[in-house]
Amino acid sequence: MDRPSPHYLWRSRWAFVLAATGSAVGLGNIWKFPYITGEYGGGAFVLLYLLCIFLIGIPLLVAEVAIGRRGRGNPMDALAHVAREGGASRHWGLLGAMAMLCGFLILCFYVVVAGWAFAYTLKMAGGSLAGSDVAAMQAIFADHNADPLQLGGWSLLVALLTLWIVGRGLQQGIERAVRWLMPGLVLLLLVLVGYAATTDGFAEGVTFLFRFDASRLNGEAFLAALGHAFFTLSLASGAIMAYGAYLPEQQSVVRTSLIVALADTAVALLAGLAIFPVIFANDMSPAAGPGLLFMSLPLAFQQMPWGQLFGALFFAMVSIAALTSAISILEGSVAWLNEQHGISRRRAAWLLGGVLVLISQLTMLSFNQGAHWTLAGMTLFDGLDYLTSRWMMPLGGILLALLVGYRLRLDLLRDELHLPRALYALWLILLRYVSPLLILLVFLHALGWLGFDPLQRWYWVAGACMALALLGECLTPGVRSLYRPAPR
Ligand code: TRP
Repeated sequence: MDRPSPHYLWRSRWAFVLAATGSAVGLGNIWKFPYITGEYGGGAFVLLYLLCIFLIGIPLLVAEVAIGRRGRGNPMDALAHVAREGGASRHWGLLGAMAMLCGFLILCFYVVVAGWAFAYTLKMAGGSLAGSDVAAMQAIFADHNADPLQLGGWSLLVALLTLWIVGRGLQQGIERAVRWLMPGLVLLLLVLVGYAATTDGFAEGVTFLFRFDASRLNGEAFLAALGHAFFTLSLASGAIMAYGAYLPEQQSVVRTSLIVALADTAVALLAGLAIFPVIFANDMSPAAGPGLLFMSLPLAFQQMPWGQLFGALFFAMVSIAALTSAISILEGSVAWLNEQHGISRRRAAWLLGGVLVLISQLTMLSFNQGAHWTLAGMTLFDGLDYLTSRWMMPLGGILLALLVGYRLRLDLLRDELHLPRALYALWLILLRYVSPLLILLVFLHALGWLGFDPLQRWYWVAGACMALALLGECLTPGVRSLYRPAPR
């Protein structure tokens, strides 16, 4: 079957890596990772998170990039095309549609948090947080959120900035933006870690992040770790697949995906190293929740020499990270409107933008006028986060793993990946048995249908994986079939 030709490609070798890393590295790394790690008590959670990244995240990331490039189109078309080519139904394209919807829903609360970061950059730089204590800092955050004009204004600004960049197109908009923003982000982060290393909380911070305490391992933490692994790698939300569609033929899917995943993990750990020492040096609690970044940290910055400068730099960095992620969420849907419906990129961006602004403004109201619009105890903001991280992304992930592992011809993506045989088999085995089973356990646990905590009986999980692998290999054309000589 003919391979569709891409409309455009990344211009430089590093553009994909920068853009995909820009997508992966975002509020997830700097805002969410530290606060969840704080809530689940540090080291044990970090270990679970790393496990999820390596066993589930990276194999799926590779699959997404490979499918994007093979299908050369927006996530919906790319999936439909690859599914047909691999002998499956083209309705798998709907998985791409769900992914784009998921990305869109993420963006609706993402711009609100990004708006916080923008606002705090100004507040820190302008010195309006100076001299506050814990209570005052909480009051400032509460006041900021209570005022729909302020909160809405900042969310609107982030949304418009995102639309403007995406509307300008791949090379003029996205590629140009990430070329400056990503190196700036890394530089700022290193400066901050360097500063944190000089505080007396550094040793405590390192211990908190890396000391493994088995008693803290539990299914609840595993649920959060898995959801976060999906979130932080931007999986199952259309972004990575959309970017993969522009990856030039001669670049290695596996190598670039690995660089992206490792860079993302490194930034999360570095952010932890920048944040926890400052928290401990000031005797604050790491378990402050979503407000950790906006209540404890500004306070900590106030108390350090040059705090105003470092604080402003820190929030500028968070804003940059958020922006490069936000851009990538829209790319898939813009490309879809453009390729499927012939709408120009600019118009597509503004069309989607209209809907985005509408929903994100409603989401922003979760913190003030709309705080009482709740469903199952969750505001719109919490609900969107919960729906996407806990359900839509893992669901998209499990379906993708099943598609690649069972429905597509097993050798289809081999030309895309250029892996040695053993590694290709390992990749397939992870997608066929390990990811689906682990994600399924997470679902069952979340639904309360599992009468025990799977993590405390990890040997059960390992055994089930192996049993499933055996059964799967007997019942389906298994991974072994790849190694038989092809029938003539
Ligand atoms: N990975 C982003 C972060 O860590 C968040 C994210 C999730 C995302 N899904 C996405 C970003 C899809 C872009 C596209 O902040």
